[in-house]
Amino acid sequence: MVNAPGAGPVSAGTVRSVLPQLGGIAYGGDYNPEQWPESTWAQDIRLMTEAGVNLVTVGVFSWTRLQPGPGELTAGWLDRVLDLLAGAGIKADLATATASPPAWLVAAHPEILPVTADGTRLSFGSRQHYCPSSPAYREAAADLAGRLAGRYADHPAVAMWHIGNEYGCHVPACYCETSARAFRRWLQAQYGELDKLNDAWGGAVWSQDYTSWEQVQPPRVTPTFGNPGQRLDFARFSSDELLACYTAEREVLTARSPGKPVTTNFMGFFRPVDQFRWAARMDAVSVDNYQDPADPEAHVFSAMVCDLTRSVGGGRPWLLMEQAPSAVNWRAVNLPKAPGQYRALSLQAVARGADAVLSFQWRAAATGAERFHSGMVPHAGTDSRVWREVVSLGAELRRLAPVAGHPVRAQAAVLFDWENWWALESDSHPSSSLRLTDLVGELYRPLLQGGVNADFAHPESDLSGYRLILVPALYLVTGAGAENVRRFVADGGTALITFFSGIVDPHDRVRLGGYPEPWRDLLGLRIEELAPLPDGAAVRLEGPAAPVADTAPAGAAPAGAAPAGAVGRLWQDVIELRGADPLLTFGEGYLDGQPAATRHDYGQGTAFYLGTLPDRTTLGRLVGQACRDAGVPLWTGLPPGVEAVRRGGYLFLISHLDRPVELDLGAKRLDLLTGVRVGPRVLLPQREILVLDTEGGPPPRSAG
Ligand code: GAL
Ligand code: ZN
Repeated sequence: MVNAPGAGPVSAGTVRSVLPQLGGIAYGGDYNPEQWPESTWAQDIRLMTEAGVNLVTVGVFSWTRLQPGPGELTAGWLDRVLDLLAGAGIKADLATATASPPAWLVAAHPEILPVTADGTRLSFGSRQHYCPSSPAYREAAADLAGRLAGRYADHPAVAMWHIGNEYGCHVPACYCETSARAFRRWLQAQYGELDKLNDAWGGAVWSQDYTSWEQVQPPRVTPTFGNPGQRLDFARFSSDELLACYTAEREVLTARSPGKPVTTNFMGFFRPVDQFRWAARMDAVSVDNYQDPADPEAHVFSAMVCDLTRSVGGGRPWLLMEQAPSAVNWRAVNLPKAPGQYRALSLQAVARGADAVLSFQWRAAATGAERFHSGMVPHAGTDSRVWREVVSLGAELRRLAPVAGHPVRAQAAVLFDWENWWALESDSHPSSSLRLTDLVGELYRPLLQGGVNADFAHPESDLSGYRLILVPALYLVTGAGAENVRRFVADGGTALITFFSGIVDPHDRVRLGGYPEPWRDLLGLRIEELAPLPDGAAVRLEGPAAPVADTAPAGAAPAGAAPAGAVGRLWQDVIELRGADPLLTFGEGYLDGQPAATRHDYGQGTAFYLGTLPDRTTLGRLVGQACRDAGVPLWTGLPPGVEAVRRGGYLFLISHLDRPVELDLGAKRLDLLTGVRVGPRVLLPQREILVLDTEGGPPPRSAG
């Protein structure tokens, strides 16, 4: 049940460009020519050439046009499309087209349609309408993948394979009878004996013991809170079932089209799919990243998605498979991207390790549910802002060719685990307002703000390449994961662990004796009670009576002193100090005067603990202190909204601001985008970007 640990930081020489034959960064988008008259195809190719497009994802939802009935493959149109692409030197990421089963297949096998937890069978009429456990679906999908591989394995346009689409999107799990049987088989493989399952799930509570495997069901709708162990195992099972769909197709492809990279597009922080487990079965990891232009901090979450994608792939270059060139159609209100935002967020991906910048989709649709989703060729045609930005980004990506294949090295990591996510966001908890990705974002923001490269690391992965780990709400932790964190600190690392960490075992059973049971010695404290705060409540925080000032660099505020107006939200732990020094105390209420944040020297390293969620200024200061303790250099004075990311020997400076901003580069440097030497002081116009060659020169202004 334990995840395949992530590969941790890449070591020198292990990275290689995703598609070395492209000789640089890939550029393009989803290409759905089957939705257009053939007369537009020649224009598509001409415009792709004009924009510098060199990779398109072909036919993701084209199953019914490829196979209008059982057996036969009507691939003439696809032959012509691929030939046109090959003639123009454009590569295809060829889809297996299996994300939306055709009407004829559903009519022949209605059991393919998935069933929700309340027993509703979903209907044909949109997309991704399949039960992941359905043998009829899996067989038909593998059959189609095999026919396509047989026909196109050696086609000169086909550079890689794209299996399915966004596994788990719309239908992350199925509760039908077929899925129930598959769940039982999965449980039998995990537990062997029913007694072990009863023990793991706490069957004695609410009279939930099973006496026969046949009685065990998926966690369908129940009168009140369902069994947490059952729900956690069903989440594991559902991720594994989707993965089995993917691997069934992958096996066919690798047998019939050996040597061609295989991918499927992840969805970033998407809870149903355990990407650490999946990425191990992918030749190249890819992601769909849809920032919300209405969010002034869209770049922060977007950066997290980029770092997560790189991290699950073990540091290898990855593909930005989809983004919107401008607006999407699926939010309540869909703002277009601001001028320059498509470019800034595309180069953010490159800075954070992407070797491909693709969009959904090439040509904005005129029909169907996505007709108001932007495309690289908008409804307005080429006389449009979007098209001009598309062409200009293509030219810039060609200039960034030297960046392709370079690794992004990180000294800091945020521990992240899907099994923890599933358990943490289960119900019947002290607070349902604790959302993991929100908390991850709060801890990640100061790293981004300080220009600190960070990975996301599985708790059981090799952490020895990092100096600092942040551990947000690692509620579920295995024995191995807990020991890994302890050893990391004992060996000289710095860890910052938050509230609601180390609480339960892999079956969501509470670890007894005072929280966090595995890390009480490490943290030098014991938590007796969990006291979450009501939504919207803020509790004053104060510095300790005697500030622990010895770790602060000259000129910095005394470590641990709470900035004026400091507050804690969301959570309070009732902390008993057992060796740790308080950095912050609660300044009012039930816990007035008791520790809210602590620091403890342990072995060769240091462990910080946060017993509440401090406001952003205070949290930024604490993360900064952890960075200094860890010896992780922080870029001080980087204006908020400006990103500084190092990839190989290049420093990307990306402004996400809609106003000019002044930067001090420390020296004159060559900008790869313009070929001009700039600095040491530069006035960066709104949403402007510099890609500086930092080899040879002194490091840009930073403080460590
Ligand atoms: C993705 C999907 C694409 C397209 C896009 C629109 O979720 O993979 O096919 O629907 O969203 O934003
Ligand atoms: Zn099912």
